[in-house]
Amino acid sequence: MWSAAPLHPNSPHYPANSNPAGPLFSPALIPSDVSSALPSGYTIRPLQRSDYKDGMLDVLRVLTTVGDINEKAWDERYDWLARRGDEYYILVICDGDKKVVGTGALLIERKFIHNLGLVGHIEDIAVAKDQQGKKLGLRIIQALDSMAQKVGCYKTILDCSETNEGFYVKCGYKRTGLEMAHYY
Ligand code: ACO
Repeated sequence: MWSAAPLHPNSPHYPANSNPAGPLFSPALIPSDVSSALPSGYTIRPLQRSDYKDGMLDVLRVLTTVGDINEKAWDERYDWLARRGDEYYILVICDGDKKVVGTGALLIERKFIHNLGLVGHIEDIAVAKDQQGKKLGLRIIQALDSMAQKVGCYKTILDCSETNEGFYVKCGYKRTGLEMAHYY
């Protein structure tokens, strides 16, 4: 269980999640003002192992190809992520029926430059088709942004298509570079 007064996530004593049924990271990192701005009955929380059964992969299918992932493979990947403790922060929004309807990920990169600076990478933002337009995407980005600041990132960056630029501008992001890719 997470303690009532959580350690600062930068603390060397901050625990990696060793409880397989528990959340991927401390729920205390998610800002309460984002939770309270959700539609009535909706919740925002860290990913948990049981989200395999609650529709997480279907939500990701809105974004891209996911593949046919069975529960054993999901559990193995989830446990791998959970062991990293302070590197992978994946959150979900659930509707009133506790079904996953939105998700987003924050990865923390640890650098030598900028005085051992931390950079947040926002990845895999997806909102179920029938739930889009309810500001869930905005809430996911607001939560990840706040979490990145709390863990000590000096900036957060992301790649997106031209068609999503307007969404990220509304979330406070601005175009600063050019994405390059080399697929294997
Ligand atoms: N272009 C311009 N503006 C947009 C777009 C868009 N594509 N999508 C939403 N907006 C605007 C909304 O109109 C709203 O504006 P308002 O405040 O003036 O009303 C604001 O952005 C917030 O919109 P939300 O309701 O929070 O958006 P939604 O919950 O529908 O989520 C998202 C947006 C995540 C892009 C969703 O449409 C989605 O899941 N799309 C498919 C998957 C995808 O493309 N994900 C992003 C990949 S990039 C990455 O992962 C880093």
